[in-house]
Amino acid sequence: MKKRSKKSPAKVQVEQETQRIGKEIWDHLDRRKPTLFERRWWLDHILEWAMQDESIKVQMFRFVDVLPMLKSSGTVTTHLQEYFEEVRTHLPVAARMGLDVAQPDTLLGKALAVNARTNTRKMAERFIAGTKPGEVFRSVQKLRDKGVAFSLDLLGEAVISDVEAEVYQQAYLDLIESLAPKVNAWPEDPVLDRDHTGWIPKCQVSIKLSALVSHFKPIDAERTSKLVKEKLRPIFQLARENDAYVHVDMEHYEYKNLTLQIFQEVCMEKEFRDWPDCGIVIQAYLPDAGDDLKALLKWVKKRKTPVGVRLVKGAYWDYETIQSEYRGWPCPVFTEKWESDANFEEQTQFLMKNHEHLRPAIASHNLRSLANAMAWAEEFKLPKSAWEIQMLYGMAEEQQHLFSELGYRVRVYAPFGELLPGMSYLVRRLLENTSNESFLRSAYDQEASIEELLRSPKEIAKLVEKTGVTA
Ligand code: FAD
Ligand code: 2OP
Repeated sequence: MKKRSKKSPAKVQVEQETQRIGKEIWDHLDRRKPTLFERRWWLDHILEWAMQDESIKVQMFRFVDVLPMLKSSGTVTTHLQEYFEEVRTHLPVAARMGLDVAQPDTLLGKALAVNARTNTRKMAERFIAGTKPGEVFRSVQKLRDKGVAFSLDLLGEAVISDVEAEVYQQAYLDLIESLAPKVNAWPEDPVLDRDHTGWIPKCQVSIKLSALVSHFKPIDAERTSKLVKEKLRPIFQLARENDAYVHVDMEHYEYKNLTLQIFQEVCMEKEFRDWPDCGIVIQAYLPDAGDDLKALLKWVKKRKTPVGVRLVKGAYWDYETIQSEYRGWPCPVFTEKWESDANFEEQTQFLMKNHEHLRPAIASHNLRSLANAMAWAEEFKLPKSAWEIQMLYGMAEEQQHLFSELGYRVRVYAPFGELLPGMSYLVRRLLENTSNESFLRSAYDQEASIEELLRSPKEIAKLVEKTGVTA
């Protein structure tokens, strides 16, 4: 006979609290304007078409990806026509006509190219905090004025030349050196600048290891590791000297083990072993997440100095699924959304329980996931200062404000840089926000009820099993 799994009393209690907190927050949010989904942002309905039709979405993102490399308006128009020709019958009539009459090197063609560039720039501005180094301080000051902390990211990843990698490292060194003294002079804000043990750095940065060297190659782990460490150490040293914090982002699955290894080895070196102001990311869309966290805990106990752990679901879902299918490899990520959500909640519980060693940063825009984190924090009697909520620049702003008003430390991940190195980042954000599985997208769907939005992943699993419907 099949054994019925019994929920522990703690889990029952946490589920009830998740529902209570989620509903309470939703009632507050309901009165606020959802800026991300306001019509003015859906530039000329482009994203609306993209969300309605998968084939338009694919062509649109292909086009956005290539756009920064196109030098003349003629090539922009040619690419637009080429890409959208494939999905011509899916386009609204006005768009079809526009593409037909706007030939490259005609006045209309040029107008179309200017329009495409302007719209892409506007989309990018939504998610990218600025392009020029001079804008950085103004942007972080604005975030501070809104009551949120920051982690700055300089756009760039998967670098392929040594010169690019040098420039990237130097940009981080310049950023820390110029920004830290300025933000350190801000008067202390007890919510943003303190956790339950003492002060925490005001100046925080996030960094992708694949941008520190040309060719981050897990297959040549020893050499890659040596070269990355040579680049990472000066950044850690400078951050330490300037009371700044460095968070190492997590990228594709292929890079995960080497990223974890490099982070741990550098953090174990004598000069960094007692430095708590560094952190790493765990992706809950990976079934590996639980084992990786357990291994991190074991390691950090040996280190005897805590590190930060940012828990995310993972930004490379489309890439991982397409890539593994194409290569005939086993898919490294969960393929049902509820599985990633359930794992996120399980790892949230683990982090809250072990918060003295692995300082939790719960990074999500999903109200259910965040309400669940709040409920686990209550269950383990953590003060609000012992963990933080993290969100991306330009996403769920109304939640950012609300949580900060409620006394939580909210940190916004703010990317900076030009469109070309930032294109992969932008495409990930567009994919995330237009996905059928996106919580934010469902949250602003007029038909979604709060009961559905707060449904536990396990409940969803049961529904999927019963009805066979996955989304
Ligand atoms: P939700 O809408 O609840 O979840 C969307 C996510 O669910 C998708 O992104 C995907 O991960 C997962 N998903 C979607 N469809 C499926 C499916 N069919 N099966 C299984 N899973 C599915 N990501 C990184 O990878 N590395 C980082 O270093 C990183 N840093 C971040 C820093 C911050 C501050 C924040 C806020 C996010 C960061 N992210 C990072 C991005 C993060 O992974 C995405 O923002 C996040 O996945 C969106 O999740 P959500 O909980 O907000 O939304
Ligand atoms: C990304 O670059 C936020 O690290 C995450 O998509």
